[in-house]
Amino acid sequence: SKRVVSGIQPTGNLHLGNYLGAIRQWVAMQDAMADGDDCLFFLADLHALTVAIDPRELGANTIEMAATLIASGIDPTRAILFNQARVPAHSELAWILNGTARMGWLNRMTQWKDKAGKNREGASVGLFAYPVLQAADVLLYNATHVPVGDDQKQHLELARDIATKFNTDFGVELFTLPEPLISKAAPRIMSLRDGTAKMSKSDPSDASRINLVDGDDMIVQKIRKAKSDADALPETADGLEGRPEARNLVTIYAALSGGSVDAVLAQFAGQGFGAFKPALADLAVASLGPIRDRLTALLEDRTAVAAILDHGADRARTLAAPTLRAAQDAVGLQI
Ligand code: TYM
Repeated sequence: SKRVVSGIQPTGNLHLGNYLGAIRQWVAMQDAMADGDDCLFFLADLHALTVAIDPRELGANTIEMAATLIASGIDPTRAILFNQARVPAHSELAWILNGTARMGWLNRMTQWKDKAGKNREGASVGLFAYPVLQAADVLLYNATHVPVGDDQKQHLELARDIATKFNTDFGVELFTLPEPLISKAAPRIMSLRDGTAKMSKSDPSDASRINLVDGDDMIVQKIRKAKSDADALPETADGLEGRPEARNLVTIYAALSGGSVDAVLAQFAGQGFGAFKPALADLAVASLGPIRDRLTALLEDRTAVAAILDHGADRARTLAAPTLRAAQDAVGLQI
């Protein structure tokens, strides 16, 4: 049976990169669940504490992000939807795994290098230890499949290394090695302003991303202003070589339409962005509009969303307890 586990930080808005790279896969895994499978999806509020956040916003963001996931197709009667902080076993296991993870492993994490930049001395300890908590998130539930965007692959490989070392060091067969599931259609959606940077919540330019809360006019405007080039679209994907913005826009079209890049090019080859962008904008509005409408409706009753998270946390705590207990036993803690 499958254990599908994944998380998202409740900072800022859910954007098209999150949606195409991760959330659509979460929904697909949930919809394909068989008897005995479990899907656990969570708001990584503890991870959000590793960078400067506004405490007055974190709670509201958590509810809004949960509502966005539901609006995107996560069904809390089938999947277990919760926020990480409500299941203390995540923190407890992370501390145990801090004894297993090596400084050298964490030093190699590209996200750490990017986020800390030149100011390593001033970065939080949490930012450095971030991938250990992420390892705990998945190992706690013996996750078999972890649907994520390409940028999280390295963290999942680290989780496998930590699991292997823990099992070996303590002579147990406790942790399952999780398999990252990376979307083929949209492993990495890029910024609308720079085809070499990934679309990200932390980009200061809101024009760089399409948010799931953006209105139709905003979506159209962002696509119209998206960086592109003056050439016509090529016949095949090879022709997108060296044209990162063109490649990204075609990839977005393909991912939204459910077709391949080649199929999109077969339709638009020879046409310029003056023709392609309006078609992409129509598709984006048609795909994202219904999600936004469901989100608006869900946010009319935030208490109901909070209740869904309560229930999810209860279910998650039950699944987490035996693994935490076994890890505590393995290292000799007297609990
Ligand atoms: P986060 O919150 O940055 O992003 C959530 C998910 O969206 C994917 N993603 C993208 N995919 C394609 N193109 C993009 N431009 C893009 N931007 C983001 C991410 O890969 C991710 O799957 N550390 C994680 C959260 C986390 C987690 C976990 C994930 C915490 N614990 C355990 C999996 C398992 C993060 O910050 O994702």
